[in-house]
Amino acid sequence: MNPVKVGLLGLGTVGGGTVNVLTRNAQEIARRAGRGIIVTHALARGLNKPRICDTRGMILTTRPEEVVNDVEIAIVVELIGGDSLAFELVMQAIANGKHVVTANKALIAKHGNEIFAAAQKQGVMVAFEAAVAGGIPIIKAIREGLAGNKIEWLAGIINGTGNFILTEMRDKGRDFADVLKEAQQLGYAEADPTFDVEGIDAAHKLTILAAIAFGIPLQFDKVYTEGISGITGTDVSYAEQLGYRIKHLGIARHTDTGVELRVHPTLIPERRLIANVDGVMNAVLVHADAVGPTLYYGAGAGADPTASAVVADLVDVVRALTSDPENRVPHLAFQPDALANFPILPMEQVETGYYLRMHAADRPGVLAEVTRILGDQGISIEAMLQKEPPTEAMGATIIMLTQRVVEKNMNRAIEQIQQLDAILSEVIRIRMEYLD
Ligand code: HSE
Repeated sequence: MNPVKVGLLGLGTVGGGTVNVLTRNAQEIARRAGRGIIVTHALARGLNKPRICDTRGMILTTRPEEVVNDVEIAIVVELIGGDSLAFELVMQAIANGKHVVTANKALIAKHGNEIFAAAQKQGVMVAFEAAVAGGIPIIKAIREGLAGNKIEWLAGIINGTGNFILTEMRDKGRDFADVLKEAQQLGYAEADPTFDVEGIDAAHKLTILAAIAFGIPLQFDKVYTEGISGITGTDVSYAEQLGYRIKHLGIARHTDTGVELRVHPTLIPERRLIANVDGVMNAVLVHADAVGPTLYYGAGAGADPTASAVVADLVDVVRALTSDPENRVPHLAFQPDALANFPILPMEQVETGYYLRMHAADRPGVLAEVTRILGDQGISIEAMLQKEPPTEAMGATIIMLTQRVVEKNMNRAIEQIQQLDAILSEVIRIRMEYLD
């Protein structure tokens, strides 16, 4: 059979990696897919830029329409990122009857519902394994491997840059900005690195994971999103003294009252496997009723690992080219007319444990006042550390771990603690999960 012709939109880190993997493993890939897969066209920003891949034999263009409108191309691979031009081009490709593979989490998280509806109508596939956790086949694992389960919750380290920064801060006491710069040089960070450090990238990925885990529409705007930019070396080190690591987690939980969708720094017990996922690596822990907990670990960014997922999607699409569109694996794991409208819970209703840090005047009765406020809100203290004041003006440092409580009560308690004359600093709060 003739090879399947592919058009690439984007020839940067992931595009270059995709060409390299397709070339290097061409025989293995053809044996798996049943046909060869060749890139015939590639959209690039400039035609003479240095690249990580060999582009001989391809038509390079700076005009996207030459890719999405080419009649010979069966699959368009979108790797330009962003959600405006990418959206237009993907919709155009679908309208032209082409299958689409994309690594673009923002695109799927924000426009996926519309894209999948259009694809369904046209009978084409849109595959997006590379959009979440780079090379880890987490979409396939949840959508297909766990299809017999009711998924209860999942928690993932799904932003490599953030994990790399937290790991370097903990291990080497390095400065936040300095580590971020290194992540950018290594090609891990987003074009706009605030997406990494403010949790937006993780929120895009969590939106996708939650949709396929619970069979709900993509709802990016309902994710509670907090990044790591407020995390200091001080908190990383106190957490460690108490037997915890601070990780930036995306958490989706199906409860009796609705679905929790949240991305924030989280203390987790250091003995958990996921607490030991370091550097740019990603991991997703899925808790499902039949299988119990399963953990997926691997490289979450970088040229070849992300290309691994892109090429796996290409193989899937090629294998399914001859199958009946109605009987393919549904885009969001559940049949489109069977998606559920579970409410997404506001953060105030979410229940977690907390790490609290504050500076307090070093005089009798201060701790009693703080614990009374916590007690009044039904908050039980699990562990406590107090460090004597380095200077009187700074006050003593008090660190507390609390048992689980609804966020609304903790908000009230923090507000009241903050008003005490004896409290000399902002009360720092980091949520805590046992993941058991
Ligand atoms: N900026 C992302 C990360 C790249 O650091 O994980 C992969 O999505």
